[in-house]
Amino acid sequence: MFGFGQLIEILKKNPKRIVFTEGSDSRILEASSRLLASNFLHPILVGTPDDIYEAAEDSGFNIRGAEIIDPNNFSDMDKMVEQFCEIRKSKGVTPEQAKEILKENNYFGTMLVKMGYADALLGGATYSTADTVRPALQLIKTKPGNSLVSSCFILVRPSATGGNEVLAMGDCGINIKPTEDELVEIAEETIRCARVFGVDPKVAFLSYSTDGSGKGEDVDKMRNAARKTKERNPEVPIDGEMQFDAAVSPKVAKKKCPGSEVAGSANTFIFPDINAGNIGYKIAQRMGNFEAYGPILLGLNSPINDLSRGCTATEVYSMAIITAALS
Ligand SMILES: CC(C)(COP(=O)(O)OP(=O)(O)OC[C@H]1O[C@@H](n2cnc3c(N)ncnc32)[C@H](O)[C@@H]1OP(=O)(O)O)[C@@H](O)C(=O)NCCC(=O)NCCS
Repeated sequence: MFGFGQLIEILKKNPKRIVFTEGSDSRILEASSRLLASNFLHPILVGTPDDIYEAAEDSGFNIRGAEIIDPNNFSDMDKMVEQFCEIRKSKGVTPEQAKEILKENNYFGTMLVKMGYADALLGGATYSTADTVRPALQLIKTKPGNSLVSSCFILVRPSATGGNEVLAMGDCGINIKPTEDELVEIAEETIRCARVFGVDPKVAFLSYSTDGSGKGEDVDKMRNAARKTKERNPEVPIDGEMQFDAAVSPKVAKKKCPGSEVAGSANTFIFPDINAGNIGYKIAQRMGNFEAYGPILLGLNSPINDLSRGCTATEVYSMAIITAALS
């Protein structure tokens, strides 16, 4: 798998602790047993010990050595409630309400990261994306200098010339209809993430129009966002607006936007909205034989990521490594 060796090396130098909010899910238990067999990433399972040990026994995974934290029996609950109320004081959350909310593993697990019990969190094996992401937005918040949390997918498939072809796509998972300035931030975060995976970014702002061939406010939005991102990052090849065929096909690029330093060889794609992005990465995954890793959340103070509810144990293991390595 591309890049995992490098990410594991990062973690070996600086081992991390990762919270799994769905501690008794068999896929989480399988991934945890794999992590426990190595020593670079320590799993913390949220749930009741009886449920977790029973599920581990039923599914035949050895989770000896895993830390289990039970929200119903957590020694620092008073401190957690106090901190929760402090973070949410603008919303007028009372200690009683906080106690109720913290019965939910997604909120409890997120507070474990906030309070420093863990470095990272991976959830969503059973929770929806919104239910995994919302506690992170409310409690972990955006890192200094960022105005929003966004996401990207890393797509990997074997290359015809050997090695792997690696692409980055943003934002396919969080921001439903980003503004021009939000697209600039999404692009900058996606560029940063692409580099972690060894991509030398060539960034295409995608549209139904190439270099003014179509008209409309969505076309203007992508063109302006490309220009602003380029102004802020002059060293990075960035271009747009352009259609997907112009972005990836040298032949089409020659016709539609000759002279572009990106067209024909783009590897980092910025989509105009979540509809286009989500559909786009899934087409690459399902019809282009790419492995898709993500959504990798970008711009948060601590790394928290969301699994697809249809995920496999291997995907849990991979996403755990990606999440922790980015912390
Ligand atoms: C991410 C998402 C869940 C947030 O929306 P929401 O749950 O309605 O949350 P709200 O708008 O109530 O916002 C909750 C908090 O998060 C903050 N927030 C919302 N979106 C944010 C973003 N992109 N970046 C940073 N903060 C954000 C809000 O300011 C708010 O903060 P506050 O409670 O401190 O005032 C929503 O945008 C969403 O559902 N996106 C699509 C997810 C999806 O289905 N993806 C497809 C599968 S990958």
